Amino acid sequence: MINIESLTRHYQMGPTTVKAIDGIDLSVGQGEFVSIIGPSGSGKTTLMNIIGCLDSPTAGQYSLAGEEVAGLSRNHLAEIRNQYIGFVFQSFNLLPRVTAVENVELPLIYAGIPARERRKRALEILKKVELDGREFHIPNPNKSEPKRSKRKSITIDSADKAIGRISF
Ligand SMILES: Nc1ncnc2c1ncn2[C@@H]1O[C@H](COP(=O)(O)OP(=O)(O)OP(=O)(O)O)[C@@H](O)[C@H]1O
Ligand SMILES: [Mg+2]
Repeated sequence: MINIESLTRHYQMGPTTVKAIDGIDLSVGQGEFVSIIGPSGSGKTTLMNIIGCLDSPTAGQYSLAGEEVAGLSRNHLAEIRNQYIGFVFQSFNLLPRVTAVENVELPLIYAGIPARERRKRALEILKKVELDGREFHIPNPNKSEPKRSKRKSITIDSADKAIGRISF
């Protein structure tokens, strides 16, 4: 699924070259769970940015689902992210003024999925993470929520975590 060979990402800082990643090999198979650990400054974020197709390496090969992505343009990388990559951010990164279901639909718009199908799929996904009943809620982190029972709060918090609304 993910095949990385001799991957290098150097940053040029004036006269200094920062070798954030310097020739690494990594293979991750379909369905495999992998965590990347290491001390601060060891290049974890740099590597994740490349694996997530947010950045390109300065040298080396990266093939994702059989496609070589190391040298692709920004637009082509955006297409790959749209089709293959899901991110769970520490902050929720939801659009604050549109509903939960519209937030879920957003990547499907870029993927060219027709409106009716988008809505159907987005509602199914929200149900899967137990957010049914909150589909038309507008996420607003600053708004104080009315008091609710502890049990209900826990349920909503778990659902919020499932879509990355709360940092943990
Ligand atoms: N945009 C950049 N320009 C120059 N140097 C950078 C840039 N981004 C990262 N670096 C340097 O590359 C090295 C690796 O940084 P990176 O952020 O990938 O490490 P990290 O393992 O994620 O660290 P942390 O655990 O603190 O998040 C560090 O020396 C960092 O200073
Ligand atoms: Mg980091």
